[in-house]
Amino acid sequence: MTSNERGQWKSRLGFIFAAAGSAIGLGNIWRFPYIVGENGGSAFLLVYLLMILFLGLPVLIGEVMLGKASQRDPVGAFEVLDRKGTPWRFIGFMGVLAAFMILSFYSVVAGWCIEFVIRSAAGDFSPTAHPAKAAQAFNVLVSSPDVQIYYHGFFILMVVGIVYAGVQAGLQRWCEILMPLLLLILVALVFFAMSQSGAKAGVAFLLEPDFQKLNGDAILAAMGQCFFSLSLGMGAMLTYGSYLRPEDNVVSSASWVVVLDSGIAIFAGFVIFPIVFSFGVDPGAGPGLVFVSLPMAFQKITAGSLISLAFFVLLLAAALTSAISLLEVISAYFVDEFKMPRHLAATMFGVICFLMGVGVAFNIAYLENFLDYWASNFILPLGALFISLFVGWRLDQKIARSEFAKSKFAKAFGLWLFCVRYVAPVLIAIVFINKSGIVEAVSKLFGAAP
Ligand code: TRP
Repeated sequence: MTSNERGQWKSRLGFIFAAAGSAIGLGNIWRFPYIVGENGGSAFLLVYLLMILFLGLPVLIGEVMLGKASQRDPVGAFEVLDRKGTPWRFIGFMGVLAAFMILSFYSVVAGWCIEFVIRSAAGDFSPTAHPAKAAQAFNVLVSSPDVQIYYHGFFILMVVGIVYAGVQAGLQRWCEILMPLLLLILVALVFFAMSQSGAKAGVAFLLEPDFQKLNGDAILAAMGQCFFSLSLGMGAMLTYGSYLRPEDNVVSSASWVVVLDSGIAIFAGFVIFPIVFSFGVDPGAGPGLVFVSLPMAFQKITAGSLISLAFFVLLLAAALTSAISLLEVISAYFVDEFKMPRHLAATMFGVICFLMGVGVAFNIAYLENFLDYWASNFILPLGALFISLFVGWRLDQKIARSEFAKSKFAKAFGLWLFCVRYVAPVLIAIVFINKSGIVEAVSKLFGAAP
């Protein structure tokens, strides 16, 4: 199959929009602020930014490079770059599996955004509405499986439609529409939030470091957020990299994606914390921060309906461009490896993800304790670990060297290699061992003695 049949970005910007679209998602606007809130704010932010620089960026460059060099899906890429039947291809299998798992719950959460867009438009989050409408909107929703299933199905339908249309007419086209829209709304919201009374307190929460709140758990959370936010470790960035043209540069494009992703997460913080501090809701409210605390704050704002409508449209746009990257991983695998027509792959696996997500609508615990838990805590870090080992130790160094040589960052090659060879694997291994509970089990074993 020629590279044109499998699709290609029309321009370098096409890749940057699409890859930033994948990275910027619920992870930036829903997950990042509450993780920062739970971990005490700015000191955590500092650790997070260090992780992004020394772990996220190097692994991202590596992943995109694997895609560009192989022009294949996450499984085939390792066979092209290593050898047929190589055990490294299991990284790809894990990635495809993770894509199923993440998409099926991601879509349910995205469905919540649709409900909140509709409720905003209906005026439920305006000062004239009954306070219970905001306070209970989320609880009512998560205890109505049928409503969630409708929205989840509708969202998957949009995702399938875009992936169905292909790399240029689907992915690139929609990311080029949705990403500028997202930026525009976000900038408008930052201006609004900064004019509120709690702006100073909100900014201070994000920018004045308090190192006492920083503990081991916060560092683990920073790393988890780094992978999730940059869509790393399961071949999404590899797949997007595989649609790059030979003349496109991996290093500078990946750097742009990192700048945009972190920038937007911080901007989202500049929207959410000023509002949170202006209206006295708790910054450490956890996953409900965006779906419970914010609507309650919106109800106290004169133009609350408009602000909440803008906010949830923003969230929905961000979720959509991320979800398409998940279905694209699955589709690319079946298109490249089994010569399945793209239309069939997108439709069939969209339906399967829909069915898997139905379970989440009935029981949220299935999201937290199974899908998100296994995918985010095990598959992503493990995938990132093996990807960094592969590009650091196994991949022909000429490939990486020439990508760096072609960019403005030629001098950074040595630092990059050091990061993917040592820094990333060691850091990930530490986190992985911690998260899997091995440390706890061992320390219980030894600590149990009086
Ligand atoms: N990065 C996205 C976010 O921040 C989520 C996402 C999309 C993702 N594709 C992924 C996470 C692949 C891990 C792997 O919301």
